[in-house]
Amino acid sequence: MRKKMVAGNWKMHGNLAENEQLLNAIIPSLSELRANVQFAVCVPFPYLSSVQNLLQHTNIALGAQNVSQFDKGAYTGEVSVAMLNDFGCSYVIVGHSERRMLYGESNALVADKYIAAQHGKLIPILCVGETLEQREAGITEQVIQEQLRAVTEKAGVDSLSKAVIAYEPVWAIGTGKTASPQQAQDIHASIRQGIAIQSADVADELTILYGGSVKANNASELFAMPDIDGGLIGGASLIADEFIAISRALNN
Ligand code: PGA
Repeated sequence: MRKKMVAGNWKMHGNLAENEQLLNAIIPSLSELRANVQFAVCVPFPYLSSVQNLLQHTNIALGAQNVSQFDKGAYTGEVSVAMLNDFGCSYVIVGHSERRMLYGESNALVADKYIAAQHGKLIPILCVGETLEQREAGITEQVIQEQLRAVTEKAGVDSLSKAVIAYEPVWAIGTGKTASPQQAQDIHASIRQGIAIQSADVADELTILYGGSVKANNASELFAMPDIDGGLIGGASLIADEFIAISRALNN
């Protein structure tokens, strides 16, 4: 059965005290939810250790938001997969649109990060999505297929059995403009169909999250769509009641 997932992407937010308060509010509520939903929080690097401690014996996995494509070496400011392993990370976000747009990460670089993550037994959460201009130009599916192809050509389609995809339309991230459930479903279905051409089994089992202004008040209708297997949650993952309600919406 396809795994469902709610992952928080804290981005560059939080501090020691706030993180502890947030997790202390979330952990008891999520512990009551069904076991077949995977919960995770992807936190800034400096907080991996403290969040790892707070998440011990809980059903919430730890993730990072970025990783180097290199194993080690003279790469000032970078963080390797082995370092994330040291802090018990299970997941790492690769190819978030903020990294693609603000830090110039190309499809090829994202593929290298994805491969590095999997070599270190981390599960990459591979983000794909179109800008508003690309949607208006009618090339959404083409853009996303290119983003995916860069990964499957280098890593092989079977690698997706150890990965999660997040469809995040750039125009919906942090803007309060959510894709409608049908708009999101259409893209999720096209992602799954594109992969099914290479492997029906991999496509069938692949967890595809939707991300982009998911909130407590729109999560249920998004998660009700047949190809939406959960959410990657930015702003709302910083508010305990929102994150709990979104998690419950997937658990229903
Ligand atoms: P948002 O961010 O929920 O704040 O729109 C989602 C993301 O960037 O992963």
